[in-house]
Amino acid sequence: MKIGIFIFYLLIFMQNSLTVQSEVSKDFVNCKHCFFQNTPPYLNGLTEQNSVQICQRHRSMLNRYFFAINYNSLHRIPYYSAYLIDSFDTGGKRHDSWLLEPQLADKGYSGNLVNDNNQPKYRDSQALDEDYKASGYDRGHLNPSFYHSETNVARMVTNSLTNVAPQVGDFNQRIWNKLERSLYNAMNDSCNFAGAKRYFITGVVPSSGTTIPNGRVNVPDYFWTAMCCDSSGANEPSKKMMGWSAAFIGGNINNSSIYVYTIEDFLNYSG
Ligand SMILES: *[C@@H]1O[C@H](CO)[C@@H](O)[C@H](O)[C@H]1NC(C)=O
Ligand SMILES: *[C@@H]1O[C@H](CO)[C@@H](O)[C@H](O)[C@H]1NC(C)=O
Ligand SMILES: *[C@@H]1O[C@H](CO)[C@@H](O)[C@H](O)[C@H]1NC(C)=O
Repeated sequence: MKIGIFIFYLLIFMQNSLTVQSEVSKDFVNCKHCFFQNTPPYLNGLTEQNSVQICQRHRSMLNRYFFAINYNSLHRIPYYSAYLIDSFDTGGKRHDSWLLEPQLADKGYSGNLVNDNNQPKYRDSQALDEDYKASGYDRGHLNPSFYHSETNVARMVTNSLTNVAPQVGDFNQRIWNKLERSLYNAMNDSCNFAGAKRYFITGVVPSSGTTIPNGRVNVPDYFWTAMCCDSSGANEPSKKMMGWSAAFIGGNINNSSIYVYTIEDFLNYSG
């Protein structure tokens, strides 16, 4: 593995969950805007047959697709979630229950996401909350809930079991959490001007065979995130050169470290 520099500080409700709706959308046709230059990455290992593209939305705003998920029904974890930080407003509440995506089991389904109640018909195609409960692992969000603190709905749609993977508690709660907060603050400090767009893709590297004890859900070896401040649409001409990007990866282990990459090195590594 090509190693970058050890980093720390880089550069610098309960609402009605039955109203969440998402959409299995081949090649992300309805949520390409979640990707830098509207272009989903097709990296090696991310396009296996078992990957399903999901555009996450909500019934109260059917035209608003919140984020994109590339989900692997065989490993029962996402490869990645792609999202933007739309706003630094706060006020939305954390959502505590978990949602499932019925379309993974039933392609013809056109309703909302459903509350997890361990329904057998969804068991084959995705992880259920009961898998996580006894697993000893955290439900590690790829798209973090607190990045969408502007509304309850924006937070709720991240609480889908299609947006999480088994994460070692110590890794999730310490260094990864710190990284998520640092990156959020970095965007707030240096990519918070009119016309800026704040893109993220957060994913995992599935392990070759480690699963949670019941054997149903892959425990990934790594979590990674790639981010970019796209300033090309800045309203003020002087801000157009203010864009930047970076990528990070950390082992899904106790006492983990985070390594930083340029996007170019990261793509070479992934490819
Ligand atoms: C964003 O940065 C501003 C200016 O430093 C700060 O006042 C505000 O609290 C930050 N917002 C969040 C959500 O962290
Ligand atoms: C990680 O640390 C926890 C808490 O100390 C421990 O229970 C667990 O076995 C450790 N896991 C590994 C893989 O070392
Ligand atoms: C992390 O490493 C420290 C120092 O070696 C050790 O005391 C601590 O138990 C480790 N934490 C976990 C969760 O394994």
